[in-house]
Amino acid sequence: MILRWILALSVTVLSVNGWTCNVIMCDHTNTNNSQIYCGGDILKAVNEAALFKDSKEFVDMPLKFDPETTIADFEAEFNGTETDQIDPVKLQKFVDDHFYPAGHELDECVPAGYSPKPDKLMAIADDNLRDWALNLNNIWSHLCRKVSDNVTLHPELHSLIEVPHEFIIPGGRFREPYYWDAYWIIKGLLASEMYEAAARMLLNYKSYVDRFGFIPNGGRVYYLQRSQPPMYIPMIYEFYEATKNITFVQKLLDSAEAELNFWDTHRTVDVSFQHGDYKLYQYNSASNVPRPESFKEDMATANATSRQSCDLWSNIASAAESGLDFSTRWFADKQSLETIETKQIVPVDLNSFICWNLEILTFLYEYVGMDTVKADQYRQRYITHRRNLQKVFFNETEGAWLDYNIREKGHNPTFYASLAAPLFTNCYEKLDSNKAGQIYDFFKRNDAFNFTSGVPQSTLKNSAQQWDFPNGWANVNHMIIEGFRKSNSPQMQEEAFALATKWVRGNYRVFHTTQHMYEKYNVVGAIPQAGAGGEYNVQEGFGWTNGVILDLLVTYADRISVSDGDKTAAAAGAYISSGLGLIALMIPMFIRA
Ligand SMILES: *[C@@H]1O[C@H](CO)[C@@H](O)[C@H](O)[C@H]1NC(C)=O
Ligand SMILES: *[C@@H]1O[C@H](CO)[C@@H](O)[C@H](O)[C@H]1NC(C)=O
Ligand SMILES: *[C@@H]1O[C@H](CO)[C@@H](O)[C@H](O)[C@H]1NC(C)=O
Ligand SMILES: *[C@@H]1O[C@H](CO)[C@@H](O)[C@H](O)[C@H]1NC(C)=O
Ligand SMILES: *[C@@H]1O[C@H](CO)[C@@H](O)[C@H](O)[C@H]1NC(C)=O
Ligand SMILES: *[C@@H]1O[C@H](CO)[C@@H](O)[C@H](O)[C@H]1NC(C)=O
Ligand SMILES: *[C@@H]1O[C@H](CO)[C@@H](O)[C@H](O)[C@H]1NC(C)=O
Repeated sequence: MILRWILALSVTVLSVNGWTCNVIMCDHTNTNNSQIYCGGDILKAVNEAALFKDSKEFVDMPLKFDPETTIADFEAEFNGTETDQIDPVKLQKFVDDHFYPAGHELDECVPAGYSPKPDKLMAIADDNLRDWALNLNNIWSHLCRKVSDNVTLHPELHSLIEVPHEFIIPGGRFREPYYWDAYWIIKGLLASEMYEAAARMLLNYKSYVDRFGFIPNGGRVYYLQRSQPPMYIPMIYEFYEATKNITFVQKLLDSAEAELNFWDTHRTVDVSFQHGDYKLYQYNSASNVPRPESFKEDMATANATSRQSCDLWSNIASAAESGLDFSTRWFADKQSLETIETKQIVPVDLNSFICWNLEILTFLYEYVGMDTVKADQYRQRYITHRRNLQKVFFNETEGAWLDYNIREKGHNPTFYASLAAPLFTNCYEKLDSNKAGQIYDFFKRNDAFNFTSGVPQSTLKNSAQQWDFPNGWANVNHMIIEGFRKSNSPQMQEEAFALATKWVRGNYRVFHTTQHMYEKYNVVGAIPQAGAGGEYNVQEGFGWTNGVILDLLVTYADRISVSDGDKTAAAAGAYISSGLGLIALMIPMFIRA
């Protein structure tokens, strides 16, 4: 396959087999650094030479000179040479001369309101878990960042987008703010009683909405063509529930409405199903070129298939918007990335989050905005959307809410852990509690509860993707636990506690073996391991993982405990020193990017 870059209208576009893919991730009207961070020959050459193991590293590097000078220097030095023919040693020198290291533009900080012994954590009954919680509370300080003044002075030299306040990063390669991660980070900050730190993060998200009309996937220019699951309004709700701070929340309402408006305007799809027409939501990024932070990977995927590349890349970008990148859930053949068809799928979880947004806005306009007219409008929309969600997604045969596939005109009956989203968001009528029971049976029938350390993302054994078996993710396990806990069924509430115990004990064992919290875990086996698979190595830190543990420990403060075996091991100091498990677990740390 021949890939050729051409220059048109000052925006570099990718021309593949006669197709022109020209929607880049950056906003090219803003600064010319779109030609560095989202397209252009330098990005292409650096990735063709594979100068960096992780494609994301290069696009996180601040410029030493303005973009125009950098591009002119590159042309002067390599003019006429095909990008894939450039000498890697000379290219490396060019990069060293023109860029600072990744992360240079972020300063460390102590999050506002940090206290070493918050009351809520001191109330955890189990001694070992309480000590661990205080340890995790302390990690917030290591994950706190603020944007350095240079970014404000010279935005064109950075891919980082300025935000006014400190924030908590996920960790590892994720060195900037992310969107849906922040819901679980904020849950954790609230458990740590760091209300001011949570408020500042909310103001950062408001500032994205004020400037861009939506919240990008993450805080870099190369994320400006896609969002992530809409959790801003739920974050505001959680903050309000924890603080009842009406004056502060009032200031956020306009941006909350504007954020929902983005999804209404740009992410809806008309679905005809069983004699009805429904307006529902789907992930749908306009970008149709390789993702700059995964450039090598997206070029290789396009190279491996005869499929039209623009269409492939826009389905890839849309899956990245779902936060579940990648999962067999988005693949037509449930196996290979090349068959990705995100835009044919109407997902249960996104529509559940929208449902929750509508319910929360009803509540906030009623009690915080004091605007009953708006509250009534959102209530009407909430009721309609909730009904549509039940009609289109609930499959009576399976007893589960299932994704709707437009191409197949039917449901995808495969088990995915995220299908618990309608329970988590309470997007079903109270009197319809039978559905909650059916979902519980669906999970059980699919062996979701059979694993020692949590619920895996799927039970398909043929996937090498990170959002699939055997990986379990903190945020999704939290959604299942909370969905079960908030149901009317005592049996499901007990299952919630059992799942919380599994998840907490699994994370606890890994922490005591490695001293780290991870992005995801392999949930199979008594001592879980950090997860694997996908396009980068497992990351440690880790924002939402820590947030979920702190929230669960506070929710079940009086009854959750480590196992007797763990208690003995902790007392003997056995975790740090012994066992083959330790060696297995250390590997991901040594090889991480
Ligand atoms: C981009 O570069 C061109 C040519 O150097 C310049 O005229 C233009 O002002 C630059 N645009 C921005 C937004 O800086
Ligand atoms: C690059 O080469 C072309 C001809 O191959 C020439 O016209 C152009 O001026 C050169 N640009 C620079 C910056 O050297
Ligand atoms: C800020 O910019 C100055 C001048 O370009 C540079 O010397 C310094 O290293 C930069 N600092 C950071 C943190 O990027
Ligand atoms: C509400 O939150 C803001 C931001 O954290 C804070 O400055 C203010 O003191 C809070 N007000 C009350 C009444 O707690
Ligand atoms: C594309 O595929 C060919 C043949 O399989 C391989 O030689 C080449 O390295 C691949 N290029 C990229 C960018 O992956
Ligand atoms: C509901 O699930 C059953 C069993 O998996 C399947 O045969 C049927 O086609 C599904 N319904 C729809 C509308 O897809
Ligand atoms: C999962 O657990 C259930 C109940 O304990 C059991 O009936 C089932 O066989 C298990 N499935 C697998 C694949 O082990």
